[in-house]
Amino acid sequence: MKITILYIAAIFSFASLKANANQFSDSVIISTSNPGGWMISTNNSVYQLILTKENEVQQAYYGPKAQLAFHQKKISAADEIPVRGAFPTKTPLLEVVFPDNVRDAELTFVNAEVLQVEGRQTLKIIQKDKYYPLEITSFIRVLPEFDILEKWVTVKNTGKKNNIKIENLQSASIHLPPDAYDLTHMAGEWGHEFQLRNTALTEGVKTLQARDFKSFANPNWFMVRPAKENEDISGSAWFGTLQYSGNWRIDFDKAFNGKLQITGGINFWDTDWTLKPGTTFETPRFIIGYTRSGSEGAAQHLTAYIRKTVLPASFRDKPRPVLYNSWYATAFNVNEEQQLALAKIAKETGVELFVIDDGWFKGRNDDHAALGDWTVDRQKFPNGLQPMIKKINDMGMDFGIWVEPEMVNPNSDLYRAHPDWVFHFPNRTRHEGRHQLMLNLAREDVYQYLLRSLSALLQENNIRFIKWDHNRTLSEPGWPDAPASEQREVRIRYITNLYRLIDALRARFPNVLFEDCSSGGGRVDLGMLSRMDQAWASDNTDPVDRIFIQYGYLSAFPANTMVSWITHEDWHSLKPGLAYKFDVAMSGVLGIGYDITKWTDDEKKLAKTKIEQYKEIRDLVQFGTLHRLVSPFKDNKSALQYIAEDRSSAVVFCYNMAEYLNGSTAQAQEANILKLRGLDPGAFYKIQGLNNVVYKGDFLMNIGIAWPVRGAYKSMILQVQKTKQ
Ligand code: DGJ
Repeated sequence: MKITILYIAAIFSFASLKANANQFSDSVIISTSNPGGWMISTNNSVYQLILTKENEVQQAYYGPKAQLAFHQKKISAADEIPVRGAFPTKTPLLEVVFPDNVRDAELTFVNAEVLQVEGRQTLKIIQKDKYYPLEITSFIRVLPEFDILEKWVTVKNTGKKNNIKIENLQSASIHLPPDAYDLTHMAGEWGHEFQLRNTALTEGVKTLQARDFKSFANPNWFMVRPAKENEDISGSAWFGTLQYSGNWRIDFDKAFNGKLQITGGINFWDTDWTLKPGTTFETPRFIIGYTRSGSEGAAQHLTAYIRKTVLPASFRDKPRPVLYNSWYATAFNVNEEQQLALAKIAKETGVELFVIDDGWFKGRNDDHAALGDWTVDRQKFPNGLQPMIKKINDMGMDFGIWVEPEMVNPNSDLYRAHPDWVFHFPNRTRHEGRHQLMLNLAREDVYQYLLRSLSALLQENNIRFIKWDHNRTLSEPGWPDAPASEQREVRIRYITNLYRLIDALRARFPNVLFEDCSSGGGRVDLGMLSRMDQAWASDNTDPVDRIFIQYGYLSAFPANTMVSWITHEDWHSLKPGLAYKFDVAMSGVLGIGYDITKWTDDEKKLAKTKIEQYKEIRDLVQFGTLHRLVSPFKDNKSALQYIAEDRSSAVVFCYNMAEYLNGSTAQAQEANILKLRGLDPGAFYKIQGLNNVVYKGDFLMNIGIAWPVRGAYKSMILQVQKTKQ
């Protein structure tokens, strides 16, 4: 009875937001007349905009559908496009200077329509300045099944004569209902990427940002939750990210009354844009989602959205190959004979893709020289690369290669010929990072050079995989040759041309798989992951550190993008075994980086068995839904469970770290039970790895089994299969 009444109340409250009868009846976007505006629905959330009598577009609500009725009674709206102008009470999305030096904008509604953008319903709203020739169009693209909205804006100078200066233009501004909120974000540095951090959002502005083209310090991902709702698998969570690889910022502006405004987009620190008459500037997309399924729901929605809609379509549904990369084995000292010796053993263990890393190009004997000169080193490879590639192909493996196109060493033919092609200021030091400078890819001549030289490399050799590295941060971002009005646009123009370059290469060479790398995971974001198929998560291959790095990575990015190699590295002198290393690397895209010519027969045998097992579970890992069962940030253990969408099979990775006295605390006792998630409660499941014992799904999820791993730095992989009783 109670349920019925609530249901009627909910219908009534939705009905009072009258939809235009003939419009979008089964639509995720409806226009409403009382109040006038638009309601955008995903499976579990509503985003409501209203159009005021004064012709202002305001955001009235964004959150769970269930709370909309309650919220309706006390609508307090905020500008959908907060501008610099009038009272400075909010973080502005738009800050412009008009030709007469007026710095305030004042917007008024022009029109709105629902259209399809890349196959999805999208609300497009045009507003314009009340006086000056400036038009701002906001887009909201709806992905209902992921509970995700993509938001971005374009700004047009509709005048004929004068420039308008953009001093700041964010992609989106979102307002959450009043509450006490906690922020989860990621922090890190080289070798320690994707570390999860939690903090209360007190009054004031908390900013996450990049100013050096790197995401080591803060990848551009966040999750915000009401402070009271902090369960892993239940409770509200808003989560988001930016589809951008340049400098970016996300601000969390918390007011005393509990309201929270989140703004995100390009970081206009030391940047501006001259909007010439008739031209338009478009921001990158800001991705925002809402779930009632806690932090795990947030991770599952975002990673499924990336896996199913963002990754490049050509390889989106294909399993990523098991790769061997010779960097940890041979570093810069590469030659054909030695690479073929590695390739032979790699093939015997089951590797599918053989990759030669740094060191193959002319004069590259260490990191002091040769970046920029993308032709093969004939001293190391007198016959070129293709004869070696042919032999690797004949063994039955694809061949891949490392490049770092955006960089140049001063000791290179390219730099000697074009010292003006790098970022620099006159009279200022050209700071080197890893003995290299950064090419100014905003320049058309640099873009054309890179397109030409990389195309030649890919045309002349049967290369099926590119590892695209980026090893230094940006410094002295000067472009003295550009007109003065464009000099501060250089960072934005660089990223535009970087994307253009990758897109052009992918169009020319559609069969080449791309891996994103930046001294490890220094540039992982949706700008790259919409163009590259996978990412090197960290130069740190220590399996214990990797358990933390990978757990954080998987909060935001899908497992089929997370490249993980086993190597001889042991950062903490814990001497983890080879099986443990494999088990950690097998929870992503498996790779091997050892000097495998030194492996004993037993090691080769173990590698072969593990790679066979990986191929058995690869579809689950790469295309299944991940439940992070035990967090290493909370315990001295970790467990990851990947489950097929039809719930017929799953694989569970269990890792022990340092061992403490069992049962010494309530927490430790609790942690001795492993509970699975997402199974069919009424079905029976057999667990391979635990003597094929059969359990009911319900039991595995609610009662659980004893933690199966014994011993410090030991691990276990459980393969779970639906079965008859
Ligand atoms: C940094 C990368 O992260 C490493 O994997 C390796 O490719 C080196 N660069 C090569 O210089």
